[in-house]
Amino acid sequence: MDHLNDAFAQITIPTPEAMEAFGGSLSTLLKEGDIIALSGELGAGKSTLARGMIRAALKASGQPDEDIPSPTFTLVQQYPFAAADDPGRSIWHMDLWRLESPDEIHELGFEEAISRHISVIEWPERLGGLLPARALWLGIKQRDDDTRLITLSGASVDGAAAWSERLDGCL
Ligand SMILES: Nc1ncnc2c1ncn2[C@@H]1O[C@H](COP(=O)(O)OP(=O)(O)O)[C@@H](O)[C@H]1O
Ligand SMILES: [Mg+2]
Repeated sequence: MDHLNDAFAQITIPTPEAMEAFGGSLSTLLKEGDIIALSGELGAGKSTLARGMIRAALKASGQPDEDIPSPTFTLVQQYPFAAADDPGRSIWHMDLWRLESPDEIHELGFEEAISRHISVIEWPERLGGLLPARALWLGIKQRDDDTRLITLSGASVDGAAAWSERLDGCL
């Protein structure tokens, strides 16, 4: 896919704990309208990374820790968290493995998610052309030694700071 052409960084993640921690540092940088596309095979570590992002956001807003199961059957799970400057914000965790056609996403509130919230999307390929170009792509690959290689890419979009600049502090 063409998003691989504009990779701007790669990072090696040694353990599941490090994967959660990486998600945690990413989540501090996110704002409404951001879209994180988590790409990789089954077992790559997409849900582990998503869980790290969501738990950190809940914790930062003083909410109790909770289980973050992957929304395998509901496809979408919302986690409201109160940012001081924006009380109505939430992270939407989407697992689109079972999405049968990209159009189904409209019924799940996709437009609201991408315009007003933070979207973390497993199996983003299922969306075809419906995924906005401003998404940050994290491609995760399992290596033979069980470490994970994450390749970061994402086009810079008119009027927005490039992801490579925004993520400078956490790479
Ligand atoms: N470095 C690593 N990063 C992420 N997960 C890892 C790592 N090493 C081993 N694992 C394991 O791989 C599995 C990844 O599962 P999961 O996050 O559910 O993947 P996916 O959502 O991509 O299918 C978990 O059992 C996790 O403990
Ligand atoms: Mg998963």
